[in-house]
Amino acid sequence: MDLTQVLHMNGGVEEASYANNSLIQREAISLTTSCRVKTITNLYCSLNPKSLAIADLGCSVGPNTLLVTSEIIKVVEKLCQELNHQSPEYKVFLNDLPGNDFNSIFKSLDTFKKKLRDEMETEIGPCYFSGVPGSFYCRIFPNKSLHFVHSSSEVKLEVETEGSFSINQLEVFGVNMHALDSDLSELLAKGIRAVIEPLLISHFSEGVTKEVFDRHRKILTYGISKERTKITNLTVTLTRKS
Ligand SMILES: C[S@@+](CC[C@H](N)C(=O)[O-])C[C@H]1O[C@@H](n2cnc3c(N)ncnc32)[C@H](O)[C@@H]1O
Repeated sequence: MDLTQVLHMNGGVEEASYANNSLIQREAISLTTSCRVKTITNLYCSLNPKSLAIADLGCSVGPNTLLVTSEIIKVVEKLCQELNHQSPEYKVFLNDLPGNDFNSIFKSLDTFKKKLRDEMETEIGPCYFSGVPGSFYCRIFPNKSLHFVHSSSEVKLEVETEGSFSINQLEVFGVNMHALDSDLSELLAKGIRAVIEPLLISHFSEGVTKEVFDRHRKILTYGISKERTKITNLTVTLTRKS
């Protein structure tokens, strides 16, 4: 079985969808904001690009999909105002595996752009979005076509061996699950279901998943009652060597 054809998050907006169950990932993204702001500020100030190409690898579909893109555009627009620069155009490439619900993302883009303009209270540079279906373990972009690449997915740390990038920052931090202030076993169980259910269905068909996830939820409830739960996150900032 080719995993890249089967793996994808639960699409749509139903109860079991990734869109409704990605709070933990959102927390991890918000904890790493300062690192991205620093990186994009340095990048913009050193290159002053007229056209800024941004990619999000493993963008999925849901409230987190355009979170980082929106954050980057806001930082750059603010810099442009401070430096009295004209806004660049933004080329945003959203990558995930082919089974990802790209259609839902595309349908949300007009609302996203309007919200961004409203929040900035000013015109922003033109934004062009493209979906890039395919595995990020293969070449999916033309040579030297991107300025900024973000991934909150599990991009492998093969960079040092591969040799094209230098590591600027490497931070390990824990997301304290008890800080998320909701029924933790429910949050975790639904979050994991939204990620792996399509994979289980492809192996065992739809009939078994309810029973599997009900049992999983009970195991989590028991485990969480015994210990405080932290999820470990790794944040790495890289620059391509010239
Ligand atoms: C846990 S989700 C994170 C999604 C989103 N970035 C967020 O923070 O909520 C990981 C995403 O990476 C995607 N993914 C996993 N392996 C991938 C690969 N080899 N190439 C492209 N996308 C991949 C999955 O389909 C999934 O949408």
